[in-house]
Amino acid sequence: MKGIVLAGGNGKRLHPLTIAFSKQLLPVGNKPMIYYPLAVLMAAGIREILIVLRPGDLPLFREILGDGSPWGVALTYAVQPEPRGIADAILIGAEHIASDDCALVLGDNIFHGSGFGRLLQREVTQVKGCTLFSYQVTDPHRYGVAVTDADGNILEIQEKPENPPSHRAVTGLYLYDNDVVDIAKYIRPSARGELEITDVNNAYIACNRARVVELSRGYAWLDTGTPEALLQAGQYVRTLEERQGVQIACLEEIALRMGYIDAEQCHRLGRSMAGSAYGRYVMNIARELGADTVPDRAG
Ligand code: G1P
Repeated sequence: MKGIVLAGGNGKRLHPLTIAFSKQLLPVGNKPMIYYPLAVLMAAGIREILIVLRPGDLPLFREILGDGSPWGVALTYAVQPEPRGIADAILIGAEHIASDDCALVLGDNIFHGSGFGRLLQREVTQVKGCTLFSYQVTDPHRYGVAVTDADGNILEIQEKPENPPSHRAVTGLYLYDNDVVDIAKYIRPSARGELEITDVNNAYIACNRARVVELSRGYAWLDTGTPEALLQAGQYVRTLEERQGVQIACLEEIALRMGYIDAEQCHRLGRSMAGSAYGRYVMNIARELGADTVPDRAG
């Protein structure tokens, strides 16, 4: 399965923060926002990832993430000239997807919870049509909202409904089979001039080829769309990290645990950031998991 992270958009609700700077590179806790969706794909077992971004943002993304090889993944980049909607990322990524399945994640969506990686690893191996993830929120009118029948079968998704039919928002993580490329070609721009991912998902639903996984309240799905939400997401991350002494969305740790890199490489990556608590955490993880191969002290 191929991965796509959409890091386009103009982040209007975060102006002036995002006038000249990509929203998806803003800090959430101690990491750039894009670490979190990247962590989701990497933990799902996806190693070929296309990042779709605004013209002008490429140099910084490259500087921060490079080609992904230090983490044992392949990162490539494609520019979205105008913010033409989420489904446009599928069209831009058509060559990258080629004849494969595809996981699309929005670059500003943060998922967290014990066992989330394992859940995704299961889901990516059994995509028939599309797999969506829903989550209970207090403000469903801000999202795509799932309409279900009495048995819980999905009937439709309503995009930002004034009167939401439920509190189950559809999150910004979507798993698709290869038909998604043809479906994205076929949908037309909405009233706001965008290719809506909800239209793609409704096309799958109409032919009974959509599955919705309900993420329980044991998981966190966080928003970063407003200054308040951004701060809250950062506070959530730092609160857990400080309390438990673990890092959320630590790409080096995920790469090591998934077997993309060995402990020595992980230790090298940590050492290059040894001036930060994050770097020292990475070195410790390398020592813990690679007992025989990594020196006891940071050399
Ligand atoms: C988009 C989708 C919406 C989804 C949300 C998740 O909305 O259109 O269906 O619930 O992402 O973050 P946007 O954030 O682009 O307004």
